[in-house]
Amino acid sequence: MKDSTPQRIHLSDYTPPAYLVDEVHLTFVLDPTSTRVKSRIAFRPNPDAPGTFALHGEHLDLISASIDGEPVDPAFTEDGLTLSVPEAPFIWEAEVEISPETNKALEGLYLSNGMYCTQCEAQGFRRITYYPDRPDVMATFTVRIESDLPVLLSNGNLTGRGDGWSEWHDPWPKPAYLFALVAGDLLDVHDTFTTASGREVQLAVWVRKGDEHKCGWALNSLKKSMAWDEEVYGREYDLDIFNIVAVDDFNMGAMENKGLNIFNASAVLASPDTSTDADFERIEAIVAHEYFHNWTGNRITCRDWFQLCLKEGLTVFRDQQFTSDMRSAPVKRIEDAILLRSRQFREDAGPLAHPVRPESFVEINNFYTVTVYEKGAELIGMLKRLVGDDAYYRALDLYFDRHDGDAATIEDWIKVFEDTIDGDLSQFMLWYSQAGTPRLTVTETFEDGTHEIILEQTIPNTPGQTNKHPHHIPLAFALFDPTTGAQLGEEVLADLTEARTVLRHEGLERKPVLSLNRGFAAPIILDTTSLADNRLFALANETDSFNRWEAARSLTRDGLISLATGEGGPDDPYFDALAGLVQDDTLDPAYRALILGQPSQDDIAQAIFEAGGTPDPLLIYRATEALRLRVAQRLQDILPALYAKMQVHGVYSPEASDTGKRALANRLLGLLSRLDGGTAAQIQFDRADNMTNQIAALHALLSIDRGQTALAAFEAQWRDDRLVMNKWFSAQTGTAAPEAAVATARTLTEREDFDWTNPNRFRAVMGGLIANSAGFHAEDGAGYTFLADWLLKVDAKNPQLAARMSAAFETWKRYDADRQDLIKTQLDRILAKDSLSRDLTEMISRIRN
Ligand code: PHE
Ligand code: ZN
Repeated sequence: MKDSTPQRIHLSDYTPPAYLVDEVHLTFVLDPTSTRVKSRIAFRPNPDAPGTFALHGEHLDLISASIDGEPVDPAFTEDGLTLSVPEAPFIWEAEVEISPETNKALEGLYLSNGMYCTQCEAQGFRRITYYPDRPDVMATFTVRIESDLPVLLSNGNLTGRGDGWSEWHDPWPKPAYLFALVAGDLLDVHDTFTTASGREVQLAVWVRKGDEHKCGWALNSLKKSMAWDEEVYGREYDLDIFNIVAVDDFNMGAMENKGLNIFNASAVLASPDTSTDADFERIEAIVAHEYFHNWTGNRITCRDWFQLCLKEGLTVFRDQQFTSDMRSAPVKRIEDAILLRSRQFREDAGPLAHPVRPESFVEINNFYTVTVYEKGAELIGMLKRLVGDDAYYRALDLYFDRHDGDAATIEDWIKVFEDTIDGDLSQFMLWYSQAGTPRLTVTETFEDGTHEIILEQTIPNTPGQTNKHPHHIPLAFALFDPTTGAQLGEEVLADLTEARTVLRHEGLERKPVLSLNRGFAAPIILDTTSLADNRLFALANETDSFNRWEAARSLTRDGLISLATGEGGPDDPYFDALAGLVQDDTLDPAYRALILGQPSQDDIAQAIFEAGGTPDPLLIYRATEALRLRVAQRLQDILPALYAKMQVHGVYSPEASDTGKRALANRLLGLLSRLDGGTAAQIQFDRADNMTNQIAALHALLSIDRGQTALAAFEAQWRDDRLVMNKWFSAQTGTAAPEAAVATARTLTEREDFDWTNPNRFRAVMGGLIANSAGFHAEDGAGYTFLADWLLKVDAKNPQLAARMSAAFETWKRYDADRQDLIKTQLDRILAKDSLSRDLTEMISRIRN
């Protein structure tokens, strides 16, 4: 790898495929180490793009190949083979051998706990057989599976089965990345759904024995998703079967293979005693996301991988809408904003920044990012705001009409909106090509009854991009009367298209109070330093629930920064306001829980860095602890009663209302335990009859270093449940005191049940440590060495997993010179390793620059 620089692929180099595929026939004879895959593929030259015939293929052992029945001898290339072929339609047949058991990259066909499964997005199909493995080659698939295992599944409809075999046909042309196969000793929990036009669809969730009781929630979520997509987008399901399979070893959350979604077990299995409220919400959203892909992803797919956001941004947006409808829209918006700002803004501000539609890559797996997914979804939300709801849904209808069956581009997508509104969205397109979070600086003047809001937009430089053009930003705002607290008129949507915009309001008696970017409708950073005094006003008077929360968040953040930089922290009015809000029964408990939340330590580090300072992880940690204690002390008198009031009695329900009460109760428990030494938390732990309350109590106890007894009890209770044990692992690395965190992580990795080839387990330990900012950034650099050691080890087997985790280093330039040196040493050590994967090489090189 060192001497052959990996190839960089550019969007601008796109050319259509030279050969198209009409039909694919595959036969699998399954065996752990020598599976045989026979393929019979009908090719024809693409009249629009003549070129040479080449197939992708990796880690394949070619047994035989023929064209129209005549044996051929292809020439092997770096990523497959080439061959001279007839300039007319022909049949390619090949047989290859592969080894699922030794495939720990979890791409292609692999074995997970005795079960065969596949993962083909983005380029895994080429590990199954030789094929033009690119999304703009679409074909119908017929699949025969031969194996003694009782359950043999593939895409589409079952067309035949017998002893030791089954046959499947998927009538919808699809790219290879949507191919899937599953074989195992599985059980299904099933149901049916009747579509709007009366088609009865057989739904099933397939799991290993013992997990049957954990399928109901996913199945129910699937039915809700199917109904919602009919109702809101007018989209019906298009096959007679919809299967979901739970797999223990999986790199991502889940995968939208046509008619056969494959899920990380953690994203599908749910029961009250083993799953938290957050798990239930996440599972509901992921089931919906994968289901929604059937239209946004499968029926209309991407022309090439640069267009990934075409399916992902849109599908995330759709799953966010779905969750807002199923639960609380304001709460969902805040949750999404928290994620976007802590992870995507961070990515956009560092060495890994890239546009929502990247222009080049070395390894596409490195671009399944928060920018493509979450910022991609924000762009859809902005479009919807800009054109209005009605035009949005008309544009979507047009998109489905015009592009059904296509492999489309972002240009196609934007064109649909332009045609719908008969307007020009070329400036909006810049959101897809310019990386970096726009910053809007706000200043105000008030004179003779005229109020001016001066908005100045800048977009920071990012790797490979400078001198950016202003974005088209839909900015929702409102004005408030400073004395009565009342909103003045309606909310207004301003279209910002210039670097500088002045919004003028005349005939006002007093200088109004501003409420900007309401609903967080634009994913930007508002520099409102000049408006800092408005925040207490907003806490009392805001009519926009997002901005009300935002005021609390901003005050909390500033309080933490002040504490972390040696100043006094927030003063009485802040605590008083907080106390008032927490007790305000007109507010949703879930919302109150969010008001009580703190930004992460990492968010504070970023804020200090952006303000020109150098964050000290340990001081930030102490600030968060100090503020928690102060809040606890201020709320002392109300905590026990409010905690009691928020207890949910009766049968557990994962729906929004009970979830919200538990969220608030558990926030309060975290505060209470700072005062009572853990008494209440221990009681909750001992009595808990659901995982939400059990794990929250464990966290509360661990955070004050009183968790050892509970930890042992938890382990004794759950040692046989892999998913629950992941919580046990991550709770420890996540809550360990800064000086103990790396040692805690190391001890955990020495346990027998630390199977690092299982991505969930690896992420539990390592992700917990990384989230424990002060622990990971320990002054002696032990956290950095520890992570680097593990990245090297994991990379040899599962490059995707290592590459994703390596992003923990992306913030290194925030820190002091000593820490930077320590990290640099580790980055260089990783890069120096022979046979580093293409994935990790690209990530570390980008971070290092
Ligand atoms: N396409 C999947 C999703 O977003 C994610 C995924 C990508 C899964 C690559 C596996 C591999 O729903
Ligand atoms: Zn997706």
